[in-house]
This record gives sequence, C-alpha cells and structure tokens, in this order.
Amino acid sequence: MPEPAAGAGRLLECGEFRIAVFRTADGWHALDDTCPHRTGPLSEGTLDVTARGTLVTCPFHGWQFDLVTGACATVRGKRVRTYPVREDATGVYVVLPDEPDDA
Ligand code: FES
Repeated sequence: MPEPAAGAGRLLECGEFRIAVFRTADGWHALDDTCPHRTGPLSEGTLDVTARGTLVTCPFHGWQFDLVTGACATVRGKRVRTYPVREDATGVYVVLPDEPDDA
C-alpha cells in the first residue's frame, strides 16, 4: 500500500470494505471510510491532535472521530469501526474481518 502523505488519509478498497488509512506520529490507523452521519469520506478528512487524542474531521459536516477507538467526539454514541494495522519489512497491512458486518 503506498503511504499517504503525513497528516493525510488514503482510501483502501478491498471487496466490500472501504477503509480510511492514516499515518500519524504514533503509527498507522485504519477505520471505516464512511461517516455514519451522511456517508462523508473520512479518508478525505483532516487530522487534529487534541488533548482527547487524534481526531479525523469529516469533510462534509465536521463530525470528528477518534483514530484509535472510532468513537465520535461530536455526537455521543456514534462511532466508526477501526481495524488493526500491521507493519513489517514487506509492507503495511490492514487486518480485515471475514465480513464487513463482523464485530
Ligand atoms: S457526512 Fe460526515 S459529518 Fe456529515
């Protein structure tokens, strides 16, 4: 996977999955690309480092999501799914479940 520019996201599409991938100072992060508000593309969002963690801001209406937990910082109870990311000598890998709806 080609690396996104620092502070920028990259969309990774694999089957039914649309994953927003970010690289920050503390490593790689992957979460669902589709904002639960009105399907904004989080991979096109901007990152903000805050006291509450690093947040990605949806480019459509500004909802913010924690890169590590996927929790929405704007609307309580909303979230996006996050995925483990592994990096080794051969590359960077997002670990996907068998099905998009698996929890
Ligand atoms: S679509 Fe993401 S905040 Fe509205």
